[in-house]
This record gives sequence, structure tokens and C-alpha cells, in this order.
Amino acid sequence: MCGIVGYAGGRDVIPVLLGGLSKLEYRGYDSAGVAVVCEGGLIVRKTKGRLDGLRRLVEDCSVADTAGIGHTRWATHGEPSFENSHPHTNCAGDIAVVHNGIIENYLKLKDWLRSEGAVFVSDTDTEVVAHLINYHYRGDLLEAVSKTLPRLEGSYALGVVSSKHPGLIIAARKDSPLVIGAGSGENLIASDIPALLEYTRDVYFLRDGDVAALTRDEIAIYDSYGARARREAYHVDWDVSQAERGGFEHFMIKEIHEEPKAMADTFSPRYRDGHIDISETGIDERLVANIKKINIIACGTAYHAGMVGKYVIEELARIPVEVEVASEFRYRRPIIEPGQLVLIISQSGETADTLAAMREAKQKGAKIAAIVNVVGSSISREADAVFYTHAGPEIAVASTKAYNTQLMAIYMIAVEIARMAGRLEPGAYERLASGLSGLPDLIKKVLETKNVIQRLASGYFSKNSVFFIGRGLDYVLSMEASLKLKEISYIHSEAYAAGELKHGTIALIEKGTLVVAIATQERLLEKTASNIKEVKARGAHVLAVCFEGNKMLENLADEVIYLPKTDDIFAPILAVTPMQLFAYYMAVEKGCDVDKPRNLAKSVTVE
Ligand code: AGP
Repeated sequence: MCGIVGYAGGRDVIPVLLGGLSKLEYRGYDSAGVAVVCEGGLIVRKTKGRLDGLRRLVEDCSVADTAGIGHTRWATHGEPSFENSHPHTNCAGDIAVVHNGIIENYLKLKDWLRSEGAVFVSDTDTEVVAHLINYHYRGDLLEAVSKTLPRLEGSYALGVVSSKHPGLIIAARKDSPLVIGAGSGENLIASDIPALLEYTRDVYFLRDGDVAALTRDEIAIYDSYGARARREAYHVDWDVSQAERGGFEHFMIKEIHEEPKAMADTFSPRYRDGHIDISETGIDERLVANIKKINIIACGTAYHAGMVGKYVIEELARIPVEVEVASEFRYRRPIIEPGQLVLIISQSGETADTLAAMREAKQKGAKIAAIVNVVGSSISREADAVFYTHAGPEIAVASTKAYNTQLMAIYMIAVEIARMAGRLEPGAYERLASGLSGLPDLIKKVLETKNVIQRLASGYFSKNSVFFIGRGLDYVLSMEASLKLKEISYIHSEAYAAGELKHGTIALIEKGTLVVAIATQERLLEKTASNIKEVKARGAHVLAVCFEGNKMLENLADEVIYLPKTDDIFAPILAVTPMQLFAYYMAVEKGCDVDKPRNLAKSVTVE
């Protein structure tokens, strides 16, 4: 999950590469480096650690009217170090490579290349690519790269330059994202759009197996057979500022504040005359009439959105739903009937496990509808149908606004499936549809209470473990609340079905243990209240999350976060925002790097 960037054009190339890498650092920040073609050679500068270290290293460098590549790393093979930093070169140092992905057969290739005289300086899988290109090089860099690719097993997005070919970048992709930016008198490559938005809004998404040769004036794309290929151009409509922090201290808090707009942008264009339109998913009456079961497949936060989807679809449409962790699904020889509906959820649309699980289900004849945020991503292009969440670019590693829009999407799909299945009581459809349309404004109200949550976090941030408990929709929501806290504050926490506590885990509750009890479901309130009494009796300090006016919890809990009232079934969409804010303020109080939490990266493009 590294970030790569490349530039061919007239500008001073180093600032362009550094600018692009700064927009990709959310993908990995273990090391950074650049390679630039200059008079009579290659300038290769790289360092362990953050981009700032690289900036200092290239202060004296200024080369214009050339080509260069850059990399920010998330270590997979070889620990973070200078030697393992990209770019990697051949022995002569006249070919340089940056890579995002994993070359799975690199050890075998390494042994063979050693027997051919190559000398390795790193522990990485990527270095074999530089030596292989060198092995196939006969004066034509494109040909050398094209001959190298069939020998690579695994995933790659590659950028290659050579001092023998000033002004030329060769790029290639397979199972790793790579976008080309078409400028005027300059062209770029990048792992993600924000890295090239400053220079162009016109982009091409390479397909798996594509190879591209870029100069300042030309972009030539070849398919996996080496034939010249045309690829559809996309015009990016969101602006650079959306990929900037806009005065907020962190991208995460900025993106939490963008939730009302993101949810409205996801719902309103599909709500006409009181009707919700999900036609883009390909889910229609005929399909619903034959549905026996729905599978939802995803990872991390997206998986948690799927769990909410299960409870809501089963509640409204009475159709059984199985939610799968993608990395388990793909190796479990899953039972999928031809024509079965499979919902794929992914913010980035590039998560390797989810992509592979989707291909597995597709190969078994499933009908794939994907809920994706990134336009043109691999999952969106390979799914049978796509429901785009309009959250805009999500830069912070911890997903927030994308999760809220994934919930909005899943609720819209659930309500429509229930309508198509004839499962809704008279008036229920209108009540649910108008309930959904009112949620963005209710989130605005929740954001107005952020100071309360900041105060609470300033009292709890020294806790070293937290339990989130709930029943029904509150339980599946607490899964996401717990993940958010863990991934940015590094506080150990668990989400637990409140009724399950007494079967063991309550043994961990002692004096002062912080228990966050989410209790929004009216019909389960009594039950959840008795679970709160159980942990209180063992000395727990309870922070409750419930709807305004809930006197029972007010008297029972030590602290309460109140939510504006809405239909119980919509509670997860409302309750998640204070939980995201809670995690955020806990992490800020602890001085954590909120946007770039340790050991994590935004889209997990390797297994
Ligand atoms: C969430 O905050 C994490 N970044 C991570 O769990 C993420 O949700 C997961 O990797 C799935 O990513 P995707 O939605 O882009 O597929």
C-alpha cells in the first residue's frame, strides 16, 4: 500500500514529485524516495521515514524538462530502512523502479537473477524488477518492461525511468491502482487522483496488464498483448481543496464535518417524488422475486457497514443476509449459487482481499452490485453494477464519512428491496424514505455537540482498555466504534454483544473499566439497562449513548451522549458520528498522528 508518482514535462520535477507524494502519504510512510533523469545519469535520493526527511535530502536538487518518479512506502517485504526504500535500481544505476504491490515469486526470481550476475542490496521484492528490466534491456525501455511483466507473479503498479531515455516514463499495472494524468505539455502517473490534480483533471485509468509510455507530449497505452489500446478519459469534478485540510487540524475531523453533505450527496440525487432510485445497482423486482439469500463481502470499516446492512435488510425485507470478511471468504470455498446477489462494499475500490473475493463470487456466477466511493477503481470497473457513494476523496486512514455514506447506500437498498418484496406495511415506505432524507440535518445537530464529546475524551484518554456494548443494531454499530478507537488511539477495545458479556468477558470488568453502552433500540432498552447494571456492579464506569429524553439511562450511566431522536432503525447512522468524534479526541489527547496511524494505510492493496 505504497504511493507512486511520476512526471514528464517542463517543470522543475522535484517539487512536482514531492507535492504528489505529500498527497499519497496516507498510503504509507515508512520511507520515501525519488529518481530523476538528468544530464548523463539518474539522481536517486531516498530515506527511511517521512517525506520531510526526503525534502531535506533534495533541497539542492533542481532539474527541469525531464522525467522523474517518486515513492512513499508501506513496508511489506524488508523492514523500513534506507536500503529497502524505493526507487530501486539495477547494478549500473541507470534504470530506476518504484512499485506498489507484492511480487510473490520474487525469491525464485532473485536466485535466478543472482545466477545471472545480479547483485542485490535490499530485502525487497521490488528490486528484482529493476534487475529483470536490466536483463531484458536491448536499447528499448518499453520492450524491456513488457518482457519483464509476464515473469512477475502478484500485484504491481510500476513507474520506470532510465538515464538512457531522458523524458520517458514507463508505467504498468496489475491488481494495483494506477492513474494517468493528461496535462498540456506534461503528463503524470500516480496511485491516486489527489497526487496529480494540481496539474490536470483529465485522467485515464489503466486496466490490469496495461503498459504505458509517457513523455511530456504523448501518452501511449498498450494492452497485455502489446497492442496499442484506447482507454476512456475521466474528467475529475472535485477540486484540489477537497483533498486539502481546509483549516481543520486533521483530515479526519474535516471529513467527519463533511458527513452531512456526503450523505445528502449520496441520497438526494436518487430521491425523486418520494421514491428512492437504486436502479444503478441492477436490483429490480425480478431479481428480488428470486432472491433466496444475499451475501455482503467487505473488509474493516466497510465490513461493519455490511453488518448494519444485514440487520436492516433482514428486519425490513425478511431476506437472509450473510456478511463475510473478504479475506476469509476467498479461501473458504464459499457456496454461491449462480445469480445470487452479492453486495461488495469498499471505499477505495482497491482493497485486494475484497477485489479477489468479488472475482471469486463472480466466477461462481453471482450477480455483483458494488457500493464504492472511488470512481474508476478496480472493483467499480469489474462489478456488474455500481452504487457510488458521493463522499468525495477520503484522505484520513481512518474511514469516517465514507462509512456514513455506505450506511446511507445500504439503507436505501434495504428499503427498496423491502418495497420490491412487498414486505412494507402501508405508509412504512414513505416514513422510511423521509426518515433517510432527514438524516443529514440530524448529523449537523450531532456535530454541534462535539464539545461535550471532547470534554468526555479529555477525561478518558488515559484508559488502556475500553468495552463497547450494545444489542441488535447497537451491537453492530459498536463494532465500528471500537475499530475507530483502536486504529487511531492505539487503546485496546472490544465491541461486545451486551447479552454475551456474562458468558465470560465480564471477568475483565473491574473498578474503573470504561464501558461505552450504546442503547438506542427502544424494544431492547430494558435488556441493555440490565447489562449496564451488571458491569456497574463490577465497578465499571459507564458512558451511555442514547436518544434525547431517555431518563432511564440518565439515572443509570455515569455520563451520557444524547442523540437527536429519529427512527430506531436509523440509529447507527446517527450514533456513529459521536463515536468517531470520541475516538478522534481520545487520539488527539494522546498526541497520536490521527491521519496517519502507525502500521496502517488507507487502501490495503496487498493480501
Ligand atoms: C478503516 O478506518 C480502515 N481504514 C480499514 O479498516 C478499511 O475500512 C478497510 O481497509 C477497507 O477499505 P475499503 O473500504 O477501501 O475497501
